[in-house]
Amino acid sequence: MNPAPNKKMQTDPAKAGPLMRGVSGIRKIMKYEALNFKEKLSLFEEQWSPKVIAEMNDYQFKIVKIKGDFVWHDHKDTDETFIVLEGKLRIDFRDGQVYLSDGEMFVVPKGVEHKPYAKEEVKMLLIEPRGIKNTGDEDGELTAENDIWI
Ligand code: NI
Repeated sequence: MNPAPNKKMQTDPAKAGPLMRGVSGIRKIMKYEALNFKEKLSLFEEQWSPKVIAEMNDYQFKIVKIKGDFVWHDHKDTDETFIVLEGKLRIDFRDGQVYLSDGEMFVVPKGVEHKPYAKEEVKMLLIEPRGIKNTGDEDGELTAENDIWI
């Protein structure tokens, strides 16, 4: 008996595009398929654990669910973009805060201390260079593993 085919492993020839070279030099097939935030968000439950859904040059697009208080941190070498997909996010700064709702974004400049906060769960998209630690220079309970693709 053949094992049941794993749908994920199959490539629909109608959606398969040309071969392209990934960042690690590995050849992969470009798929003519839209990435859907809702669908990607439905694949995991855990909070504070960003998942990579795409890369553009050296930048990664990561979706994440958060609730509660994060830790104060900054990123010495890069700006960080927050795009709220669903929910209400507050980003605290040492001298103020910004509120973001569905469809709103904010770029935190490099070196600026910030602390995301969400009273209820927020689903968002982060854009930042590959390899950036979510807690900045600090290692802690909320430090997430990098390069987890979904
Ligand atoms: Ni940050």
